[in-house]
Amino acid sequence: MRWATRLLHTGHEMDPATGALSVPVYQVSSFHQFSPGQEQEYDYSRSGNPTRKALEETMADLEGGGHGFAFASGMAAISSVLCLFSQGDHIIAGEDIYGGTYRVLTRLFPRFGFDVSFVDTADLEKLTAAFYPHTRAVYLETPSNPLMRITDLRAVAELAHARGALVVVDNTVMTPYFQRPLELGADIVVHSATKYLAGHSDVIAGVAVVREAGLARELGFIQNAFGAVLGPQDSWLVLRGAKTLKVRMEQHQTGAMAVAAWLAGRPEVEEVYYPGLSSHPGHELHFSQASGASGLLSFRLVTAESAQQVLARSRLPFRAVSLGSVESLISMPARMSHASLAEEHRHRLGIDSRLLRYSVGLEEPEDIIADLEAALRGEDRGR
Ligand SMILES: Cc1ncc(COP(=O)(O)O)c(C=O)c1O
Repeated sequence: MRWATRLLHTGHEMDPATGALSVPVYQVSSFHQFSPGQEQEYDYSRSGNPTRKALEETMADLEGGGHGFAFASGMAAISSVLCLFSQGDHIIAGEDIYGGTYRVLTRLFPRFGFDVSFVDTADLEKLTAAFYPHTRAVYLETPSNPLMRITDLRAVAELAHARGALVVVDNTVMTPYFQRPLELGADIVVHSATKYLAGHSDVIAGVAVVREAGLARELGFIQNAFGAVLGPQDSWLVLRGAKTLKVRMEQHQTGAMAVAAWLAGRPEVEEVYYPGLSSHPGHELHFSQASGASGLLSFRLVTAESAQQVLARSRLPFRAVSLGSVESLISMPARMSHASLAEEHRHRLGIDSRLLRYSVGLEEPEDIIADLEAALRGEDRGR
């Protein structure tokens, strides 16, 4: 089946008991044990819940991997995956990963005794030099965000596997519709399902998908033991959002392409970061491993004043830390999503007060452009 069909015929499109065309929300904590002492699929919803399972199986199918796990947030998914590692292990992480991931890697997990190095994973020489004998994983985002650097997933998988390390990819920005890292050699994919997968600014959720059965058993153990599971109602919201993933992602991309091309021609804009533009340095590599560029872009204004002006005066986008929603969202990463990066680290990366990130929503691209133009002209249309 092709994508639009697969999203609607996941194996969970109908309730076999009633014929209902939506997975029922099993809002339940405990299940009656019909024959005590004998195995049955569900006993307690932390260990397993039918609505959550429908989402987990759907995500495993979409990512082309074997086993899906749904968590209470993207950070719960990421932190649960990090629980696969132990005292004495070393992890290499991308240097411009999401600020919340940077925060747990620098301020929480080191308490339990593992080391982290931050490296530009797009630079394979630097990445190769960062391995130690005790390196157990490479953790990355491609495109990274907000700077949209592209990492060669096939090359990193080869490098890491030759050194006995796993590859973990945060695929939030691309979604499996555009990019499936497990098919390119990664071992684990994580998502903030809060973003494009659910898509409607109405739920906080996370997902992890792993290819290999042994890793799946370990992550399943952690999911149940650590307990940061996604509730049934929220699992249902992500399932509902995912049904329209293809049409939303196509439209997000059409809008982002138009906005990026328009911004690239503006004198107030110094640089546009969007892998869909053929001028983007990672454009070719990106399209060798993904089928689209998604709906997220960043741009650096010539002056901090114009960045502030666009942030304050645009009328359509909400000023919000999130991305991947039906509504356009604008943010200043230095002050919002990436504020938890150490200041000197942020500066080295170029995440400063001239950089804005725009998650292009499903509004008409012409309206988004007209709004940005008015904001750049200085018209006060802000909320
Ligand atoms: C790329 C990326 N990964 C992970 C997360 C964390 O997800 P959540 O906010 O659902 O915990 C975010 C949230 O902004 C994100 O943008």
